[in-house]
Amino acid sequence: MPGGGFSASVPPAGVEFEAKITPIVIVSCIMAATGGLMFGYDVGVSGGVTAMPHFLKKFFPVVYRRTQQGDDSNYCKYDNQGLQLFTSSLYLAGLTATFFASYTTRRLGRRLTMLIAGIFFIAGVAFNVAAQNLAMLIVGRILLGCGVGFANQAVPLFLSEIAPTRIRGGLNILFQLNVTIGILFANLVNYGTSHIKSQWGWRISLGLAGIPAALLTVGSLLVTDTPNSLIERGRFEEGKAVLRKIRGTDKIEPEFLELVEASRIAKEVKHPFRNLLKRRNRPQLVIAVALQIFQQCTGINAIMFYAPVLFKTLGFGGSASLYSTVITGAVNVLSTLVSIYSVDKVGRRMLLLEAGIQMFLSQTDHSEDLHTGFAVLVVIMICTFISAFAWSWGPLGWLIPSETFPLETRSAGQSVTVCVNLLFTFVIAQAFLSMLCHFKFGIFLFFSGWVLIMSCFVFFLLPETKNVPIEEMTERVWKQHWLWKNFMVDDGFDDDEPKKNGHRNGFDPVSQL
Ligand code: BGC
Repeated sequence: MPGGGFSASVPPAGVEFEAKITPIVIVSCIMAATGGLMFGYDVGVSGGVTAMPHFLKKFFPVVYRRTQQGDDSNYCKYDNQGLQLFTSSLYLAGLTATFFASYTTRRLGRRLTMLIAGIFFIAGVAFNVAAQNLAMLIVGRILLGCGVGFANQAVPLFLSEIAPTRIRGGLNILFQLNVTIGILFANLVNYGTSHIKSQWGWRISLGLAGIPAALLTVGSLLVTDTPNSLIERGRFEEGKAVLRKIRGTDKIEPEFLELVEASRIAKEVKHPFRNLLKRRNRPQLVIAVALQIFQQCTGINAIMFYAPVLFKTLGFGGSASLYSTVITGAVNVLSTLVSIYSVDKVGRRMLLLEAGIQMFLSQTDHSEDLHTGFAVLVVIMICTFISAFAWSWGPLGWLIPSETFPLETRSAGQSVTVCVNLLFTFVIAQAFLSMLCHFKFGIFLFFSGWVLIMSCFVFFLLPETKNVPIEEMTERVWKQHWLWKNFMVDDGFDDDEPKKNGHRNGFDPVSQL
């Protein structure tokens, strides 16, 4: 354990603190649900909306005219930078906003950051519902993106801090479950509104995002901040009272002291982002960044954003394509449950490797013969692909970075994770329709190449973190790995270093001699 004023009473790492599952913890789960729902709804809604004729006619008349001309090349009729910007501007705004959010989560707390996210969301929805021109539409998407940047930074932090240790993993994937429910909800709404033969169809689709947005805003007004955040900002007594309330017990002294100690160490690190670049943090950083790039290079969002467009390209009718999107959305939700059930039993590596094989096989058929019988087979292949993603790269892309960083770099690590994720989401969203236009169905060959690379990465470089207490990762995971153990060497103290028993991270150089 770290040294310092409180170290004598601080319990050893990995000790389970006394905690009940209290109503306030349940309210926190609902919070996560609304944050995740909002993100998921934004991911799911744009594809259906961009397939609606009234929407295209108003904002993208060039694309609309192309969709009306039967003889135009199928693969290229949606290739339009403005149309892709409608989808991707949200992610560009989100990846920038996440760095501001890392400041507000530290200085103003998790709760206020979630409130800011909720307000951004409401403003974004208002612009979208009322949009009269492309500029209003894009401003709305940018505001929603700021909401995503703030919410995806604060909600997972809020959750892992408020959750009792023994259900923290489950709660983490619960966030992803709600992302998938948000996507499905958006798909259902799009399916319903596509039957409305006026501009109200797309306006309702975009407007219903107001429900999760309002829930997040009201929810963040009702909950208290986390004890970690209160203590970090010097509000010790308040932090202690909150800890007692959320744990449902008076025996909170050991956890309280650990939080005080953790916040002391975190405060010693003046430049969390510079600290992240130190050699001994390299393995976690490489893995967090690689996992985000790989998650997006599975090609999942090509399907999530553009499924209706994709199905239309394949020759499905308008509502048949939305109907198929609803099926894929449901597969996504149900398969995430598999992950919640099995992640702590079979482990992270097993899920990722199995899914790699499943995704590779489902992407390899890239025939250009798009008659209806074949199209049904494509839907089955897409469902096979989505289910594999939903129990592997979807939830684990978020879970693994959150559990491998040491405490003092965890929040900076989270910012980098969110930023890289949204950056690559943006790249895929912006490029996919052009890639579809140029590569045709060979595009799935491109994604299956990536699946091969990421599976090799998992096989050789990703250590198993199942059932390892979060504060024991250095000793039990990184120092045992054939490659990463070489990075676990001391690279000198400086003013920016937290000192633990004279050695950082509990690392003892003498034992390495
Ligand atoms: C990814 C999103 C994706 C979603 C699909 C998430 O884990 O970060 O980009 O759209 O899963 O379910």
